[in-house]
Amino acid sequence: MESVDQEGLRRRYRDKVAIVTGAGSGIGRAIVEGLVVEGAYVVANDISRDRIESLESERVTVIAADVSEASAAGRLTAEALKMRGGRIDALFNNAGIGSAGPAVDIGAEEWRRVMAINIDAAFQLAASVGRVMIRRGGGAILNTASVAGTMGLPGRVPYVVSKHAVVGLTRALAVEWGVHGVRVNALCPGLTETAMSERLRREAPDYWAKREAVVPLRRAGTSAEQAAAALFLNSEEASYISGLIAEADGGAHALYSGYTVSRPQEGSGGVAASGVEREITPSAGL
Ligand SMILES: NC(=O)c1ccc[n+]([C@@H]2O[C@H](COP(=O)([O-])OP(=O)(O)OC[C@H]3O[C@@H](n4cnc5c(N)ncnc54)[C@H](O)[C@@H]3O)[C@@H](O)[C@H]2O)c1
Repeated sequence: MESVDQEGLRRRYRDKVAIVTGAGSGIGRAIVEGLVVEGAYVVANDISRDRIESLESERVTVIAADVSEASAAGRLTAEALKMRGGRIDALFNNAGIGSAGPAVDIGAEEWRRVMAINIDAAFQLAASVGRVMIRRGGGAILNTASVAGTMGLPGRVPYVVSKHAVVGLTRALAVEWGVHGVRVNALCPGLTETAMSERLRREAPDYWAKREAVVPLRRAGTSAEQAAAALFLNSEEASYISGLIAEADGGAHALYSGYTVSRPQEGSGGVAASGVEREITPSAGL
């Protein structure tokens, strides 16, 4: 038998209308799955039709489109408006791509592509959906940033810049649209097991181990854990939370740079017994 809390959780999105971008994999897919369990109507978008096809159902409309195309924001908004007579309750601006390589080697095309998907498209869709929410006097928007939205990481300049812009967009819209009852927050995932990070784990296990060593919870997060945070922030349970830059990173942002975390050894006393050790290697993030 389900507990009272679980019953409550399952009602948060009943008959609400939501849009999720980048829904074919990882965090976006887990968000759609969570919304479906909670009774929402969903427009699920991804650039890859193959990845989203299986999500289609009576309550889920799938739209294969590149969010950075000029027509994408209008198309997703129009589809959502058809679902339940002109309302959109929640936008999950989740689609994003990574970038890697030395700053001096980044070409104009790569720079533009990362910005077009990670920040330009997020703004265009927020503006399009925001018009509907402002007219109705309410709604919630969650932008997926990253720990790279609040810190610098070497070898990822376009990604870091684009995610800092997502954090800026979140704060700017939250302060402009609060008077209309529209909340805007950002989720900053830390190391999370998804397609985006799987290659890293496989091809650079030492680097992955170092990344986990700077997470106080001592492990990467899962898509389901990121989705749980996302669903909370865009639900009415979070009705007084707006402009929040929420790090879901197992505590990594709270650890002073250069420290690593290990399991405490019994009887060894001092710093090691607390589970925290100083290392010379700088900590890194995604
Ligand atoms: N995985 C991590 O460790 C991590 C950490 C911090 C932030 N994030 C952020 O979380 C978000 C989701 O990432 P994920 O880890 O689930 O990645 P993922 O690669 O598993 O999923 C991203 C999805 O977005 C889709 N997509 C890519 N470009 C698109 C476009 N132009 N239009 C529409 N869809 C597009 C992809 O096809 C894919 O299905 C991203 O914004 C990412 O930057 C992820």
